[in-house]
Formats: sequence, C-alpha cells, structure tokens
Amino acid sequence: MFAERYADRVQFLNPSSIRKMMAIAKGLIAQGKTVYELNIGQPDIECIPEFCEAIDKKARTGQINYSPIIGEKYLRETYARYLNNFFDKDGKPHLVIDTDNVLITVGASHALTSCFLGICNPGDEVLVIEPYFSPYSGFLAVAGGKLKAIPTRAEDDFALPPAEEIEKLITPKTRAILFNSPNNPSGKIYSAEEVERLAKICIDHNLFIISDEVYREMTLGDKEAFSVLQVDFGNDEMNEKLKNAIIMIDSASKTFSLCGVRIGTLVARQPILEKLALVVAHTTACVSDIMQYGVAWAYDAILSRPDYLDNMRKVYHERLEATMQAIAEYLPGVVAPKPDGAFYLMLKFPEFEDITEFSHFMLEKFNLGNETVAVTPAASFYLTPGYGRNEIRIALVVDPEKMRRSIQIISEALKAFSQFKVNLVRPML
Ligand SMILES: Cc1ncc(COP(=O)(O)O)c(C=O)c1O
Repeated sequence: MFAERYADRVQFLNPSSIRKMMAIAKGLIAQGKTVYELNIGQPDIECIPEFCEAIDKKARTGQINYSPIIGEKYLRETYARYLNNFFDKDGKPHLVIDTDNVLITVGASHALTSCFLGICNPGDEVLVIEPYFSPYSGFLAVAGGKLKAIPTRAEDDFALPPAEEIEKLITPKTRAILFNSPNNPSGKIYSAEEVERLAKICIDHNLFIISDEVYREMTLGDKEAFSVLQVDFGNDEMNEKLKNAIIMIDSASKTFSLCGVRIGTLVARQPILEKLALVVAHTTACVSDIMQYGVAWAYDAILSRPDYLDNMRKVYHERLEATMQAIAEYLPGVVAPKPDGAFYLMLKFPEFEDITEFSHFMLEKFNLGNETVAVTPAASFYLTPGYGRNEIRIALVVDPEKMRRSIQIISEALKAFSQFKVNLVRPML
C-alpha cells in the first residue's frame, strides 16, 4: 500500500537466509533448547588478547574521537606491514603494499558495499564465482547492480570454467569479477593458474578484479591460498594494468575472532582508494577509532607471535577431521567435498530435491535429548535456478565432540523426517 514511499532499490533487499535461520535458532535457545548453531560463520574461539588490552588502554585515555576518512595511520601502516610480511616470511613474490594502499572500512561487508557504490551504476553487473557468499547480492543491490554467476560445481571440485566460458558472460554492463579464496561456502582454494586466468580476463576486458581474502589465514591443510597480489604476468605492461584493476578485501572478523568489532581493510592503488574513501566517508563519516586501535595491536601482535594463528588453524583442522569422520559414519550417502580453507562444509543430499523443509523441520520440530542443529540451506549461495537445492552449509564453529554430535543429530533427524513425511501423506481414518 505504501510501496511508493520507498526507493526502488529496497525491493531487491531481502533478509538473508543465514540471518532468518539465526533468528529462529536464537528464539529456540531462549526457550531452553540446545541448538548447535552451525548456520553462521561466527568463530567461537577466543579473540586475540592483545586486542582487549589495547581497547582497555585506549578507553582509559578518555579520548574516543572521529577518525580520518581513510582510517587511522597506525592501523593502515600496521596492516601494510602484516600483509607484506605474510608473503615475505615464506619468500613468496608479491606486489608490495604501502600504507597509502590501505583503506579502513566497517568490516569486509562495508568494504564491498563501498566498492560497489564506487564502481557500479544502476543496472551494472558483477561476475561472481558460484557458489558464493550470499550477502554479496544485497551489497551490490544497494548500488543498483546485479550479480551474474560463473558456475562451478562440487562434482568438478569447484574448478573454474575455461576463460572462453567466462568471457561469454561479459557484457558492456560488466564492471568487475568478484571472487573469494579460500571460499565461503565451498572451502575451495583457487590455484595460482585459476587466479591468473581471472586476472587476465579482467585486464583484457578492462574490469576490476575484486578479491575477497577474508579467510587468507584460515587454511585447513597444506594448501596455501594464492592472493591476487601474487599474480605476475612476467610482462611490465600487463602487470601495470593489473595494478590498476586490483581491489583486495580483508577483515579482522575471522582472522582474530573479532566479528563484532567491524573492522575491514581494502587494498588498491591510491587513485582507486581515494574515490572509495569518499564513499566510506559519505556513508559512515568514519570508522570507530577505538576499534581501529585494538585491531592495529592485533595485527602487530601476530607479527611477533604467530602462535595465535597456528593454534586457530589447529583448532579448525581438528574439527574438520572429526566432522569428516562422523559424516563417513553417520551420513554415508552424503556428498561432502573436504574443504581446503575457510571453515565451512557443503553437504549434498542426493535423495532430496529441496532440503529447505528438512532444515526447518530439524531446527523447529526435532530434538535428540533436547538438542538440535541449525544449518543453512545452500540454494541461497547459487544464482543458477535449481542449483544447491539439495545442499546445506555447516560451519566448524563448535568443538570436535559437538561437531560429531551435530552430525549424529542430522542423521537421526533425517530418519524422523522420513517418518514425518509418511505420516503427512497417510490418509485420515
Ligand atoms: C566471504 C566473506 N566475505 C565477507 C564477509 C564479511 O565479513 P565482515 O565481518 O568483515 O563484514 C564474510 C563473513 O562471513 C565472508 O564469509
């Protein structure tokens, strides 16, 4: 009735399915049910202690102020040092990052939204590798843009299609290719060759390459992520074009278990950064100075004390191993590619056409000793109609025993769901 009171863009903004499940789960927890919330990527391990000490120290100064629109210099400097060291410590050649290449944002979410607002006009398109982190579509919709899928499939180990296939998707409206490695939700780490393929397409078609690297530190085995900053065409002209195309996104959320702190970073050449900083300034005024202070200390701490991240990787690795074992034991028919990075698993249930009803049944109508599991139905991670409908995503956010228990609960819920469906179709006597 009051539709005309709202801007057109609002009709493209829907609550995310991840958040919908979260609201239901929280309601049930408030009623006393134990819910293993595997539906959301909220790390449960303790945040890095140096962050808390720094926040305490800064708060005691009694000075919590506005910050420069581009972010605090001490954080931008420390982040540049961290990033260069990330590659240098293993002797990996890379593009050297300077303080002037770093913009501070309100988490990676705001870095992405600012980036889309800065590079897209209404009607423009961004290509994204599917499956993808579903909130991307909302971030882009705010700028009036639309995502277009570069499809990849679990059956092919989420391998990137050949360059010709990707190029067919490019139109005069295409502004960028967006990819995320290690990937949420698939856990895929794209190879050097795959990242170079994307970079080459971007420079050939004058597109930005937006590389979401928020899970850079979260590797689950021996495979390391290959950053867009490591691409080297061995040709000065092409390398120069690439430097003008790169927008790299990062965040403190997952690296330091600091999701609530809302600090992200965007790395690009200075002219790009200056434009995007204007968007940041006009959407937020500036980013919280006390949080930037805390995060600067966190990045500084891991330069001298890498054990925090080593331990984090060990914790997630143990959870993954326990979960894979439990899947083999309790869910033998389920297709579960082992992820290389991030902290999610995609589970495909071949006997289902659509897993959404089961996911809600398990959360809302089922319990095993008053315990159940919240998962995310995976269709929202795909744009291609019909894809992902029989898949769920689970996050490795509880300890190995609870991960194991969660898989057992899913297995029992599947049996109960079959019975529930039989009872539904049984004619009334
Ligand atoms: C791939 C990916 N990008 C971006 C984000 C957003 O991160 P932030 O908390 O920094 O906004 C997430 C959060 O889960 C994510 O998984």
